[in-house]
Amino acid sequence: MRHLVVHGALDLPGDKSISHRALILAALGTGRSEIHGILASADTRATAASLARLGRPVPALGAAVSVDGSGLRLRHPPADVALDCENSGTTARLLAGLAAAQDSVTLIDGDASLRARPMRRIAEPLSEMGAGIHWRGAVGNLPMEVRGGGLRSVRYATEVPSAQVKSGVLLAGLCAGVPVAVREPLPTRDHTERMLQSLGVDLVLRDGWLELSPPLAIPAARYDVPADPSSAAFFAVLATTAARGSLTLRGVLLNARRTGFLRVLERMGGIFDVHNERVAGGEAVGDLVVHASPLRGAVVEADEVPDLVDEIPALAVLAAFAEGETVVRGAGELRVKESDRLDAVVQNLRRCGVQAEEYPDGFAVWGGGPIRSAAIDTRGDHRIAMAFAILSVASGVPLALDAPSCVDVSYPGFFTDLARIAPIP
Ligand code: S3P
Repeated sequence: MRHLVVHGALDLPGDKSISHRALILAALGTGRSEIHGILASADTRATAASLARLGRPVPALGAAVSVDGSGLRLRHPPADVALDCENSGTTARLLAGLAAAQDSVTLIDGDASLRARPMRRIAEPLSEMGAGIHWRGAVGNLPMEVRGGGLRSVRYATEVPSAQVKSGVLLAGLCAGVPVAVREPLPTRDHTERMLQSLGVDLVLRDGWLELSPPLAIPAARYDVPADPSSAAFFAVLATTAARGSLTLRGVLLNARRTGFLRVLERMGGIFDVHNERVAGGEAVGDLVVHASPLRGAVVEADEVPDLVDEIPALAVLAAFAEGETVVRGAGELRVKESDRLDAVVQNLRRCGVQAEEYPDGFAVWGGGPIRSAAIDTRGDHRIAMAFAILSVASGVPLALDAPSCVDVSYPGFFTDLARIAPIP
């Protein structure tokens, strides 16, 4: 099954989470901000277009973007706004916070996948703050109308660990000028907090509560976006499952809330080194050198899930190459991502001849067996498409993806980069 010899280096696209936040915070700043290394993909373009609709224009996304911020509070916000967040949950939930703070009526909508994802989790804290929420279709799903303005302070404990919900509430407090406190059941990615703190915002963690005291304004800044560890994970799987060689993944974000996949990879026997470790834009960054190595199964428990929540499709493919059983538990949130990723990985692995079983909150994969040629039902989910493209290249077995272009959501150059490393069967 292992046949590849890998070598070379890749510069991966900018981190998706940080790119969304850099755009939003630049648009809320006072003066001209510069963003370097932003991810230019369908999701971040949805955020850029939505910010413009909200009365905060940002230029087209490129290697360097200059954003003239319009300040925390618009003097004349547009009265009626309609946002198309397309496939992007981050756009919908973060900008819901902005919309709630603004004296406007904002209709938030998205594609069929986003319409199926839970929005009550962000609507609830915003309505506690005084925003009017009206469901235009099914209760709890987009399209959702947000009547903003006149917000009050909130202390809100989220039911599920969600960086999007936490960030939406922080942004609502920031833009409305009211203090907010958020508590989460498990720590989630903390980019919003780090970025706000680097802008001088008074944001502290006290007794498990993240407390924000809003400033009158936030300054313009330079934002440097490191490479996305969630995109890097696919190539880390390719390198690890090769017969020989190694791949260098340059400038990857190494924030501990994003390196859960690397910790599991190590437990499974994966071998990698970090070179040139540094701090860039307030975040740990380094060059990852990932080596081909034998693998054994591992167990991933609920408390680890937030730190690798986007890497589970990649992990499932890794598990197909590992000797023995790999089990993921406590990952029920995967059912409400861009697709039901628990079902998608198990069904597609089985099509490829891999023994796999689905649980309500996870799955088990028995790896090390042969892969057979199959048609892959990506469900239009970028991470399912990339995971199975890696399985195909790593095994040398043709796998036909039904919608390969969905990778544009987070990694438009994925197939070009993949073809540079190894032939696509
Ligand atoms: C994200 C948070 C996570 C993650 C998503 C990006 C963010 O979602 O899965 O890809 O940028 O805040 P949840 O907040 O729904 O866990």
